[in-house]
Amino acid sequence: MNANESDDETLHLSAETMSALMEFYQEQEEREQKMKEIEEGNIPNNFEENWNMSQFWYTEETAKRLAEGCVKSAGSNGSIACVSTPTVFRMLKKMEHNCTLKVLEYDKRFAIYKEEFIFYDFKNPLGVPRDLCEQFDLIVVDPPYLSEDCLTKTAITVKFLMKPSAKIIVCTGSVMEELVGRLLKANKCEFEVKHAKSLSNPFMCYANYNFDDYCQN
Ligand SMILES: C[S@@+](CC[C@H](N)C(=O)[O-])C[C@H]1O[C@@H](n2cnc3c(N)ncnc32)[C@H](O)[C@@H]1O
Repeated sequence: MNANESDDETLHLSAETMSALMEFYQEQEEREQKMKEIEEGNIPNNFEENWNMSQFWYTEETAKRLAEGCVKSAGSNGSIACVSTPTVFRMLKKMEHNCTLKVLEYDKRFAIYKEEFIFYDFKNPLGVPRDLCEQFDLIVVDPPYLSEDCLTKTAITVKFLMKPSAKIIVCTGSVMEELVGRLLKANKCEFEVKHAKSLSNPFMCYANYNFDDYCQN
């Protein structure tokens, strides 16, 4: 192929391809602008879902009910760890309470929350700071993948973080029910978890205590 043929190909991009390309560049520009804002320390109103990181955000309502339930369950001055649940963490940040908070997350956009952010990769379950050992009254967790490997490793982190009498809330697909029960002694709740974009697989809330008594459906 000579240079002219190649130029011709560029010129003959279909309108459809051209529009997809323009859309891609526009989205990229928006992402870069958002990252710039984050780097400058401005907390954005929303963080777009990144499906490559298995991000499926809760609805505002679900995040609110979970966050309120977390505060009631942890008690005043309680400590709450949001493990792979940044939406609940962000809701807790907007609410009035005296609980201390940490968000353990793989997505570094949440590093904007400075010392409240702990980088966390479920593949390295004990790769979190040692001083977090047995520090939390309540842990709310939503593992990124519906697999035995992911849940088993996530459970190791949860057990590392929890005080001996800690309360645990696990939001995950119902296919994980048996393993959630076995690893974390958490049982199905009535509370309904809803997502901003509907998921194809049934999704549930589990807890090692009666979470339904602490939240409204
Ligand atoms: C299924 S989503 C749960 C989010 C929750 N529904 C919310 O609205 O806050 C899974 C979460 O795990 C995080 N995640 C992705 N990869 C991860 C990894 N390797 N280790 C730990 N967390 C990860 C995602 O960034 C996302 O926040």
